Amino acid sequence: MDAVDTFVRFLEEHNSTIRSPASKVFFPLVASSVSFRTATAFLGRSINPHHTLNKYTHLKIQSRLKMGWSDTWSDILDGGSQRWKVTDEESHMKVFSHFQTFVQKDPSDTHVLCPLAGDDPFVYLLFSQGYSVSAIDLVPEAIEELKITFKCSSEEDWKKEESDNSLVWKHASGRATFIVGDALQKRPELVGKFDAVYDKDSFGALPKSLRKGFCARISEFTKKGGLIYLECKLKNNHEEVVNVGPPFSLKAENLMEEDNFGANFDYVKGLGSVYDLSVGMVANMQQTGHVMKRN
Ligand SMILES: C[S@@+](CC[C@H](N)C(=O)[O-])C[C@H]1O[C@@H](n2cnc3c(N)ncnc32)[C@H](O)[C@@H]1O
Repeated sequence: MDAVDTFVRFLEEHNSTIRSPASKVFFPLVASSVSFRTATAFLGRSINPHHTLNKYTHLKIQSRLKMGWSDTWSDILDGGSQRWKVTDEESHMKVFSHFQTFVQKDPSDTHVLCPLAGDDPFVYLLFSQGYSVSAIDLVPEAIEELKITFKCSSEEDWKKEESDNSLVWKHASGRATFIVGDALQKRPELVGKFDAVYDKDSFGALPKSLRKGFCARISEFTKKGGLIYLECKLKNNHEEVVNVGPPFSLKAENLMEEDNFGANFDYVKGLGSVYDLSVGMVANMQQTGHVMKRN
């Protein structure tokens, strides 16, 4: 067993004890940045956050993190906690109103990227309002659930293609594309393609070590002048728990760090709490909205 296997085993054995109670509710089985820090001490070398591991080691850790998301989706689909999901129409209408305040182009001329989309019903809401949508998620079962939210469609409306380690589902309308794959992967075909990005709990689900790569891709994929509508958690004791997650507690200053969106986006507006989180969700956090513009 090499050091990475030891590290991964350490994560698996200690995950439930080193994550915050909130993380247990939202993302069981997913390693957190706290885990990385603890493992750093455990291995006696630096892991978090800025690529001090060699590429092989980094890839191996990432592949185990992906397995964590698959396990999380299995639990959701087996009837376990629904974690981050927001399904009520009232919240969606509030979000849509914010989205349209900033994204003012005609929907028929607006392509929206939904990274780490899961089965968020808001993707279909955008589609039903005339937008073109492209969603990405690592987990095939999540994309299958997302397809089910497209109520207007039957299985025959979806055509499957394969490209660059990813499975791509294309809708007969030509306005919806779902990619089963890693959002951090380079995708030349998506460069400069999107007028807007809808990020709900996506950046906020990523440990610090993955944020730079994620933001680099989002920057590449967004047209100049394009907007990001981003929702993330803000925990009441933000300063104490800023490195604990997922979900990670985020303020504008965290989003706009130079390694994150700061490199290629201007901060347009903080929207504060955008809707109330349901009672089943943790009470010590708000769902906050932020708008940024590609420069
Ligand atoms: C916290 S959930 C948010 C899902 C959705 N945005 C929502 O709010 O309903 C994060 C999602 O990201 C997916 N995911 C995690 N890492 C990913 C990656 N590197 N590339 C693509 N999807 C990823 C997970 O499978 C999961 O569905």
